[in-house]
Amino acid sequence: MTRKEFLEQTAAVAVMGLGASTLAGMLTSCTSVRYVSGTESANAVSVPLAEFAEAAFVVVRKGGKLPAPVYCCKHVDGTFSALVMKCTHKGCEVRPAGDLLICPCHGSEFSNTGKVLSPPALENLQAFRTSADATSVMIHLQEEGVQ
Ligand code: FES
Repeated sequence: MTRKEFLEQTAAVAVMGLGASTLAGMLTSCTSVRYVSGTESANAVSVPLAEFAEAAFVVVRKGGKLPAPVYCCKHVDGTFSALVMKCTHKGCEVRPAGDLLICPCHGSEFSNTGKVLSPPALENLQAFRTSADATSVMIHLQEEGVQ
């Protein structure tokens, strides 16, 4: 996140009157977002498992077969979520903030499994099925509904 992007988001949050916890989450997220480039194969994008050694989540940059950045999160049970970072309200790019994804445009909030928690968005984030082996997390490029 650039300084300009940070200031724009912070101002947007203040104008919208969102809570201090949301603002605190955004401040925390500024220093903790780890961006990676995935490796594409026929129907998947892989991310080295080592990327999660010191991070609960990474953001896989858009490009190639990914139409938008993908938030890839490791859960405590060892499973992974892979969520398209495109708000289901009007399409703005959502931002990681702690365990949440927050839309800077109108304030919708989503869980780290993609469930919508706060409107105006009414639908969950698009999610991809994931799998993992000893070295990689695979993001399978077929849509999956969030449970
Ligand atoms: S575009 Fe995300 S809340 Fe409106």
